[in-house]
Amino acid sequence: MNNNKLTIQRISLHTHFICNLKCRDCCVRAVEYEKPYNPTPEFLISEIDKLFSIIDGINYFAIEGGEPLLYKGLPAVLNHILKYLDRINIEVPLITNGGFIPDEKLLFVLSRFENKIHIIVDDYGPGKSSKVNEISALLKIKNIRCTIKDYSQNLYFGGWVDLYGDYDKKRTKKESKDLFQKCAWAQKLMGVVEVIGGCLFFCPSVRIFNEHGFDTSDGWIDMYDTSASNKDKKEIIKGWYEKDCFNACMYCNGIHDESERFVPAIQLTPEELKKIRVNKNIYREQL
Ligand SMILES: C[S@@+](CC[C@H](N)C(=O)[O-])C[C@H]1O[C@@H](n2cnc3c(N)ncnc32)[C@H](O)[C@@H]1O
Ligand code: SF4
Ligand code: SF4
Repeated sequence: MNNNKLTIQRISLHTHFICNLKCRDCCVRAVEYEKPYNPTPEFLISEIDKLFSIIDGINYFAIEGGEPLLYKGLPAVLNHILKYLDRINIEVPLITNGGFIPDEKLLFVLSRFENKIHIIVDDYGPGKSSKVNEISALLKIKNIRCTIKDYSQNLYFGGWVDLYGDYDKKRTKKESKDLFQKCAWAQKLMGVVEVIGGCLFFCPSVRIFNEHGFDTSDGWIDMYDTSASNKDKKEIIKGWYEKDCFNACMYCNGIHDESERFVPAIQLTPEELKKIRVNKNIYREQL
């Protein structure tokens, strides 16, 4: 084993935060933004290059949003990821809410990933995931690996979790260490690193509590920061995997066996949506 190498277990590239659904408990809070994050394909391509200039490999390189199938530049972005396929060790999960059928251009790029692509179709039920059967049939014909998650049959670990609550401080640093020890995102998944606006966040909570004005700087880096070398950035990321908690864990509910569970994809009404919306897109969207 080479100690200078850094392979990250799980990274999620956010195409954008635009989504047709308005899930109350959306764990990335795509519903919160008045003007959702909406980067250019050129910017996402540059983020991918930056990422692979800092780290050596990724086991699971997930593509998600928002709703990634609503992102017009998706074929171009996936096409670029193909360049790095030999550094993606396990797979590229593409997670969709089952509302949109992939077009020919997208299908063509997906098929080029061969056994490394894995389309995960969330079936949130009628009126929400209306195209699940068509997507499943089409991907079967094209021989593209696909898993349907039918939430009417299986709530997956008992349902969704509210990670954020009142967005305020909930515990001391010492109590945070106990939460971190049982948090599935930290332990089982070994981090759910997000790529957004040219930054890397250890998990969505680190990003979201940063957006809410708390100091979560021990859990994220700006990949475009010119004052630090790629080597320095790599060392900071390596350090995340040796920590016993992050500042964000003081504010977060975590996700664990005792977490309260909710029915997935409960939809907000337009009135409820107005109340929670914040005009806070603080991320780079173009080069
Ligand atoms: C943020 S979504 C983006 C992809 C797509 N829009 C979708 O919903 O399938 C990525 C994954 O997070 C899951 N998810 C969203 N909110 C969650 C929550 N509060 N608890 C657990 N999983 C959640 C979704 O079911 C989905 O599989
Ligand atoms: S479908 Fe729901 S969980 Fe997925 S991004 Fe949209 S609002 Fe969030
Ligand atoms: S901030 Fe929350 S989700 Fe992230 S590791 Fe800590 S407890 Fe887990």
